[in-house]
Amino acid sequence: MSLQAIKFDRSLKTLQILDQLLLPYSTSYIEITSIEDAYQAIKKMQVRGAPAIAIVGAFAIVVQLNKLENITVKDLLASIDYLVESRPTAVNLSNACNDIKDLLTSTFSTSDVAGQQVLDTVFKYAVDLYDADLSNNFKIGENGLNYITETLRSQNFKGPFSIMTICNTGSLATSGHGTALGIIRTTFQNLTKEKSSEDFWFEKVYPCETRPYNQGAKLTTYELDYEKITFSLICDNMATSLISTLNSTDGSIRNSSAPVKFIIVGADRIVKNGDSANKIGTFQLAAIADFFNKRNAEQIKFIVAAPRTTIDLKTETGADIVIEERPSNELTTLNAPVLDVNGTAGEKLTVGIATPGIDVWNPAFDIAPHDLIDSIVTEDTKVYIKDSEGNFKLD
Ligand code: MRU
Repeated sequence: MSLQAIKFDRSLKTLQILDQLLLPYSTSYIEITSIEDAYQAIKKMQVRGAPAIAIVGAFAIVVQLNKLENITVKDLLASIDYLVESRPTAVNLSNACNDIKDLLTSTFSTSDVAGQQVLDTVFKYAVDLYDADLSNNFKIGENGLNYITETLRSQNFKGPFSIMTICNTGSLATSGHGTALGIIRTTFQNLTKEKSSEDFWFEKVYPCETRPYNQGAKLTTYELDYEKITFSLICDNMATSLISTLNSTDGSIRNSSAPVKFIIVGADRIVKNGDSANKIGTFQLAAIADFFNKRNAEQIKFIVAAPRTTIDLKTETGADIVIEERPSNELTTLNAPVLDVNGTAGEKLTVGIATPGIDVWNPAFDIAPHDLIDSIVTEDTKVYIKDSEGNFKLD
């Protein structure tokens, strides 16, 4: 059974989300009973990850409509606009909300009361969104595995290899399986030493901790541990050292000398030229791969994995992406449970880890420029790579 971030009962039309703020110490679901509940849960990051927040947003509109409260289509459209503001960078939420608004305005008049027909329309959209996301994630996994296999064959690579990743892009960030972590999952299911029919095999994952919110440390390790995929957690500032150690001829870490051959990340928005917004720290990983590739001809491939719902063809370049800035206390404090001597989690406490009252800059995302991206893997069988002039063609 895989982890489920979102539980939607299709006959009762009720919605529950796994409270990701409590992971990895406790697994508890919270009820989302309105658009306002969804706004708060998304803003507080009880659910996060670009595809997951879009799905929760769409289901929350269904849940709201299911109350049959006599609101007009006009008021509903206003609440949908409000919902989009909860996380501005991830395009999936605004794509889904805009689709729903288009459906409503093309079928109903704004003065109509949002009754059963409106509910049925949004319900169908939300359920289709969820189902498509799940099946697309499995395709992303397969396409990523094929790309990895073909890349290593073409490099005539032999032996074990490692993959580095950042943030959480797995079941918890999507409807299931995941995007970047979905590729890692599919690769683990097919290309470990026991299963590989190639001269190379997948040995280990290095998830970055992902400061300041620690989605890598808390969520990705939870998923990897759950699936028994071999990994070692690293802090974000260890990435260069790790590659330098593992990719040198005599380097080894914890008995593994499997070089990092792929850095695979998710995306919150991929714009027309391929520039990709993702969790803060992603750009530096792309720059690190580029540094090693230029210096030592390492051939580390930097892969962005996302469903096509993350592609925003209306925005030309990354310069036009609005980056969400988050509260300063995410950097200056830690909120986590106290652990007893046996490691059992107790009451949650907030502890200070920086000088009180200081100025803080806390952008949630950064933009990896397309020139540092080797490939974009989506549910399309064709993996997107740049043409001879260095341009992606994503449409
Ligand atoms: O702030 P978060 O946790 O929502 O950030 C999530 C990411 O950056 C993910 O990599 C991205 O949304 C893709 S999730 C499949």
